[in-house]
Amino acid sequence: MRLICSTQIVKYLAIVLVFSFLFLSTTIISEETPEVKKGRELYQSKGCVACHTIGEGKLSGPDLKGVTERREEKWLKEWLKSPDKMVFTDPIAKEMLAEYMVPMPNQGLTDEEVVEIITYLKFEDSK
Ligand code: HEC
Repeated sequence: MRLICSTQIVKYLAIVLVFSFLFLSTTIISEETPEVKKGRELYQSKGCVACHTIGEGKLSGPDLKGVTERREEKWLKEWLKSPDKMVFTDPIAKEMLAEYMVPMPNQGLTDEEVVEIITYLKFEDSK
């Protein structure tokens, strides 16, 4: 009798575990909207990874962890659209150039791609 009870408990626990895992994995996936995925793909395919990490330190460019918190969205949009122009006009950009010594090249992003990359960076910052 005692043995049956403990097997039942084990079964019950196993079911609870499986369900909580399923629940957790779906909540994680559901945060990854199609826009986030597109942004991540662009981030990788447009060469950002050659000069940036997210949370793993500086390369030739700054670590982008927290960038959506330290910069205004409007600033980020302008920057991703035309870093090559802003580097001569914007005080924040000038300061960064003085530190990094390399001007970030214009990656030829469309307005839509800029929004998708910012959405991805926000997703990374929300972790
Ligand atoms: C050749 C290297 C290089 C590439 C490629 C590059 N960046 Fe940069 N990025 C930099 C540098 C260097 C800076 C610092 C400003 C400067 O010196 O022009 C910077 C600055 C930034 C900033 C501002 C960081 C802050 O702290 O405010 C963002 C955001 C950014 N880059 C995003 C991107 C994204 C997204 C891509 C890909 C589409 C990309 N970068 C591609 C080198 C690069």
